[in-house]
Amino acid sequence: MSGTALRACQHGLMARIVAVLNQKGGVGKTTVTLGLASAAATAGQRVLVVDLDPQGSSSWVLGVDPREVEDSLAEVLGRLPASKALVPTDWGDGVWLLPSSPRLLSRDHGGSPTRLRTALHEVADDFDAVLIDCPPSLGALTAAGLTAADHAVIVVEPSELSLRGITGVADLIDDVWDAQNPDLELAGVIVNRVPAVSAEADRRYEELTRIVGKKAVWQPVIPQRVIVNQALGERTPIHGYGARSAEVSEVFDKLWAKLHRLLKD
Ligand SMILES: Nc1ncnc2c1ncn2[C@@H]1O[C@H](COP(=O)(O)OP(=O)(O)O)[C@@H](O)[C@H]1O
Ligand SMILES: [Mg+2]
Repeated sequence: MSGTALRACQHGLMARIVAVLNQKGGVGKTTVTLGLASAAATAGQRVLVVDLDPQGSSSWVLGVDPREVEDSLAEVLGRLPASKALVPTDWGDGVWLLPSSPRLLSRDHGGSPTRLRTALHEVADDFDAVLIDCPPSLGALTAAGLTAADHAVIVVEPSELSLRGITGVADLIDDVWDAQNPDLELAGVIVNRVPAVSAEADRRYEELTRIVGKKAVWQPVIPQRVIVNQALGERTPIHGYGARSAEVSEVFDKLWAKLHRLLKD
């Protein structure tokens, strides 16, 4: 039996593919995906980041220039096996990447809705989790991400614009669930960029709990901190700044622990 098959047996049929999404850009999909990846690697687990955004932010942060990638996710959505495109990253053995490329743009319409699911299922058993960093749209790429996923995590900011987008995301999850993927579950909503003091943010948080239900909103929320922005810009895991990032790292550790538990259930 090959190593891969053996691992698959040990894990059993674990549902470990997670789509991180919101149709709005700049809310923190990439921040959350990579913060969770950093926490997982720190805890000794192994994750695959799937960069489904043609802009390729998470590829870049993980040390791969999406403009120079020959075998990218775009080719995987053609017929290239995922195992041929995935690469190790500068973040160590715990974080692997299926890189984006600008060619993904041409895949944001049409195409087989189930191709990504098939491709990711071929490699998922080698990882504790597969985290799909979705593009800021509700087009064919995000639909493919949801079709491939066992769990969806919505990232929001406590702002009016961000909350207004939630119904569109929920509708797409419903559509995909209906048409392609009855296994898809909404894992929850992660709230990012919460300012230290803001009556407006507090109001929006209340509104969010009314829209999706209190239990769907994950704790802890992610605070707005300069170090989060700095870590992405310096292509460094959030856990790599010692005491300076301890507060935010701890938040991601807790969110990862919750997600990891969910994947094992
Ligand atoms: N909690 C936070 N505190 C401070 N800056 C943040 C936080 N979350 C995200 N940012 C910054 O906001 C910008 C957009 O975040 P990003 O994760 O790229 O969003 P998305 O992937 O949804 O487009 C980035 O420059 C990032 O560094
Ligand atoms: Mg992004």
